[in-house]
Amino acid sequence: MRRFFLKGGAFLRGKIRLPGDKSISHRSIILSALSKGKTTIKNFPGGDDVFSTVNAFKSLGIKITGRLRKNRVNTLEVFGKGLFGLRRPKGPLFLGDSGTTFRLLLGVLAGQNFRARLTAGKSLSARPMLRVTGPLRLMGARIEAKQKTKTEEYPPITIHGGKLKAVTYKIPLASAQVKSAVLLAGLYAQGKTSVIETQKTRDHTERMLKTFKADIKFKANTVVIKGRKELVTPGVIYIPGDISSAGFFMVAATILKGSEILIKNVNLNPTRMGIIRVLQRMKASIKVIPVSNPAAAEPTGDILIKSSALKATTVKKEEIPSLIDELPVLMVAACFSKGQSVFEGVSELRVKETDRIRSMALNLNKMGARIDVKTKNVNGKITELIVIQGVSILKGTKVKSFQDHRTAMSMIISGLAAGGKTEIDDISCINKSFPEFLSVLKSLQRLTMH
Ligand code: S3P
Repeated sequence: MRRFFLKGGAFLRGKIRLPGDKSISHRSIILSALSKGKTTIKNFPGGDDVFSTVNAFKSLGIKITGRLRKNRVNTLEVFGKGLFGLRRPKGPLFLGDSGTTFRLLLGVLAGQNFRARLTAGKSLSARPMLRVTGPLRLMGARIEAKQKTKTEEYPPITIHGGKLKAVTYKIPLASAQVKSAVLLAGLYAQGKTSVIETQKTRDHTERMLKTFKADIKFKANTVVIKGRKELVTPGVIYIPGDISSAGFFMVAATILKGSEILIKNVNLNPTRMGIIRVLQRMKASIKVIPVSNPAAAEPTGDILIKSSALKATTVKKEEIPSLIDELPVLMVAACFSKGQSVFEGVSELRVKETDRIRSMALNLNKMGARIDVKTKNVNGKITELIVIQGVSILKGTKVKSFQDHRTAMSMIISGLAAGGKTEIDDISCINKSFPEFLSVLKSLQRLTMH
């Protein structure tokens, strides 16, 4: 438990550099482990989730060295053993609350010649897994989930890897984790596995598979991977700064009057840049300066943000995957903008670390926001939308993190912009993705004179 108090009325100034992107970090460990030889990974972040992936691969027989310090940026060396080099773990693999580790690892384990049991912490044990186990069963994996309902299944899960067959799989929802799990299983399948997306999601797995010389091809909304070809390590991978972590500072610097910050070396993958596009549409002053970094194998650059008055906007369903993790902090931005903002097609937010529609609406409304959640019938399908009337002023009060890192950080940003004192019941969950959040924030914070 870590109770946290803060006072509104600050502004931000200065230059920051952020720890590596969480999504890319998971993939860097996985592909380094599955290729032969040493890969050095730089700017690897120190959050709990990425350590779940590191520890899982250690338990699967992969040597990983470097000064592995939680809460710090690290340089790691992974000694991969090739596609068929993993060994059966001695006991269950406990993956904490890392959904990405759990779902991507299921894809890898589907192709092994051993059985493994995956267990999870409290919040992950309540998150849906059928979206991944479904397609993996189609490929031939045998999977048993302990907790089941008629329409869903949850961790813990036992997976019996084996010979996989290639499939063509059309993903029924927008999920990079599902896409990645099927592509990773596709590395082991005989023949070509095709994954078709109806909505484009983050493409870090595809980019990194290419960097590791997988036989992968792209056709419109389809990714095709040919299985059973060994991967080749690029030797060094640099993980660019996490754009999701940058999102909190982009919104903070926009809504806190008198702010001006420069965020160095951020991942500028177009499939993740929704937050920048939406804030710019809301008239935020955000300048993107591309800077190439060949070891990153992803577009990178700097972002300059100055405070400015925001206008409301409508965020369409198609845009949601490119900003899914930034929706909580964008809800804060919408509260401080002029007019009515609408976020369409947001139901996936219900099944993140907590129900983020509920956590954010409850907290922000308690601070004086005007947020409604509505439903809409689109071609016979019920979708949810969040409607926010800009209020321009919030008042500090007692709010809750709901043990969700992104709710906690978003509430810290709204507390900074609110009048008076905000109290958050427990912010220890921030360690999941961004343990350095408060120290980075403090390095930028200047107090206004009252
Ligand atoms: C992630 C994909 C997204 C995102 C999550 C990380 C990834 O989840 O919300 O934080 O690294 O692939 P979904 O795949 O469930 O949309």
